[in-house]
Amino acid sequence: MVIGIPKEIKVQENRVALTPAGTQELVKRGHTVYIQDNAGVGSGFSNDLYLSAGAEILPTIEEIYEEAKMIIKVKEPIEPEYKLVRENQLVFTYFHFASHEPLTRAMMKSNSICLAYETVEKRGGGLPLLIPMSEVAGRMAAQKGSNYLEKPLGGKGILMGGVPGTLPAKVLILGGGVVGTQAAWMAAGLSADVTILDVSLPRMRYLSDVMPANVRTRMSNEFNIRELIPSADLIIGAVLIPGAKAPHLISKDMLKDMEKGTVLVDVAVDQGGCIETCKPTTHENPTYTIDDVLHYCVANMPGAVPYTSTVALTNATLPYAIELAEKGWQKAAVENEELAAGLNIIKGEIVYKAVAEAFDLPYFPVEKHLKEHLV
Ligand SMILES: NC(=O)c1ccc[n+]([C@@H]2O[C@H](COP(=O)([O-])OP(=O)(O)OC[C@H]3O[C@@H](n4cnc5c(N)ncnc54)[C@H](O)[C@@H]3O)[C@@H](O)[C@H]2O)c1
Repeated sequence: MVIGIPKEIKVQENRVALTPAGTQELVKRGHTVYIQDNAGVGSGFSNDLYLSAGAEILPTIEEIYEEAKMIIKVKEPIEPEYKLVRENQLVFTYFHFASHEPLTRAMMKSNSICLAYETVEKRGGGLPLLIPMSEVAGRMAAQKGSNYLEKPLGGKGILMGGVPGTLPAKVLILGGGVVGTQAAWMAAGLSADVTILDVSLPRMRYLSDVMPANVRTRMSNEFNIRELIPSADLIIGAVLIPGAKAPHLISKDMLKDMEKGTVLVDVAVDQGGCIETCKPTTHENPTYTIDDVLHYCVANMPGAVPYTSTVALTNATLPYAIELAEKGWQKAAVENEELAAGLNIIKGEIVYKAVAEAFDLPYFPVEKHLKEHLV
């Protein structure tokens, strides 16, 4: 398989879809890897590292799309890239089609095969190519929160773990999924006093089993939230209801019950936020204050740590990329239902129901395109 790795051109995107280590694995298996000049530099990987791993460097993005049978990317193609995607080309990346109609129509027009990271799904649920970015955002949430608790940055002036003879910071985490769990590990590691609220009893039983003694769990409901927020120093929003907007667990009126300098980090901002007063911010301008409460609501937290994010993402995508390269997309999708779930658009036809429904466009069952490979 001839594989192409373009440099990401979306503003502020420094990740790259393949590391030198991943390149070596593909080349070792007999595949050709073309990487665009300096595509890895933003993540700390030079051209030389790719060359030693067996890749070939192509100077322009046009040549990458021209040569490759499979494109592996990080972000969805943006407008200048639409025309580069070729008929029958396999594009493996985050697409998030349902929130972007022009992209959906452009990819339909290209007659390519679009396999979306975000819908690759394990049997019984679980989105393996979203987990790494949630892990990064969760760990960062505790790190950022602890930083903003410092007085000069607008916080209460409390050290996460305190020192002997003082109380540690109280950290409240709304949602104990991937983000919440990783945030809890980091906060607990700094010796903070951590409480995770969730609605799932099985999840809380699991968290109670694995977390250290400075982490406890409580049922998530308005009564408990109102009781806990006046004494919380840092509140991290990490709720997800699949396919829906995040519920506003913290309403605007609750801010007046918080102490001055309380820090709110709403990681769920990309789904609307679980704090009513949350609105998306950027790494350049990450915070704002309402009623003396500091809000951090960066919608693309992993973007600030491209080295970690690139390695974490490619650790998860590489096994799928290898399978696609070895078998071709049809055989790979027939033999691996996780990959079949990732197929969104095939040669002009939408094969993922939620995308078709989002724009009232016709839906075609994916099996139609796989039948020659089905036994
Ligand atoms: N800002 C960023 O850069 C960034 C990066 C990655 C993920 N995210 C977002 O973070 C959010 C969390 O993602 P995740 O991977 O942890 O999801 P997850 O599905 O692993 O966890 C969500 C948790 O929320 C719990 N929950 C549902 N309703 C609740 C309620 N009313 N009260 C308390 N808990 C409730 C669920 O039981 C589950 O444990 C998502 O919105 C995701 O898109 C943001």
